[in-house]
Amino acid sequence: MSRPHSPPPPGPAYRLTTPRTLLRPWAPEDASALVAAVAESLTHLRPWLGWAQERPDVEATVARLRHLRAEFDADRDFTYGVWSPSGQTVIGGCGLHPRIGADALEIGYWMHVDHAGRGLATEFVAALTRAAFAFHRVHRVEIHCDPQNVASARVAEKLGYRHEATLTARLQRPDGTWRDTMIWTMFAEAFAASPAAAVEVRACDALGRPMDPSLPT
Ligand SMILES: CC(C)(COP(=O)(O)OP(=O)(O)OC[C@H]1O[C@@H](n2cnc3c(N)ncnc32)[C@H](O)[C@@H]1OP(=O)(O)O)[C@@H](O)C(=O)NCCC(=O)NCCS
Repeated sequence: MSRPHSPPPPGPAYRLTTPRTLLRPWAPEDASALVAAVAESLTHLRPWLGWAQERPDVEATVARLRHLRAEFDADRDFTYGVWSPSGQTVIGGCGLHPRIGADALEIGYWMHVDHAGRGLATEFVAALTRAAFAFHRVHRVEIHCDPQNVASARVAEKLGYRHEATLTARLQRPDGTWRDTMIWTMFAEAFAASPAAAVEVRACDALGRPMDPSLPT
């Protein structure tokens, strides 16, 4: 992920906090809390997320979270649980995913239905955007969504991502029909002046030491 002749990136934050959210990598012991959050939110998630079609099984979720945690620790993919500031309540999930080419990360996100519509996704996606540029030092961050997913597109737009393209019939919906995909992009140079940069973020490394969230100059 580092650019030629630049120092290595600091690596992933193991804890990101904004005024109303706490992000930390999922751990296997979060399985029951995650299953409950997804089960309570199925109607809200089902139209948009292929993995959220039916109530998840706790054992399968333990296996899934073990895999996600291994991916995180191996610097391959960075999926976080989103919690209330006390760390007691799951309010959503999100991640930084290196699946869109070199020097770039895609952000994915979902909210528990009871916590949607309060600006929380916008808040923690701002934190992930900062982490992508400050800690992973990527050149580009993207958000992909179905054009019909107005709430998701609005999160990207509010943070200052630019709608670059809508690709035709690019992904299959859970019901098997094809859907278009909007590509929202932010380049590193644009971050400092974007609304995303205005969100207060604190970050810690794996040892709980504060990380400097300012962007390299
Ligand atoms: C997309 C999602 C994460 C947004 O979470 P959230 O916490 O509600 O987002 P925010 O409150 O930060 O912002 C949502 C924005 O969309 C707007 N919005 C929501 N539903 C809308 C609708 N049907 N029509 C128009 N605007 C809508 C809200 O008004 C808000 O914009 P505003 O602040 O300008 O008023 C949440 O709706 C969700 O979990 N959806 C299901 C999973 C999903 O779609 N994930 C993304 C896949 S790409």
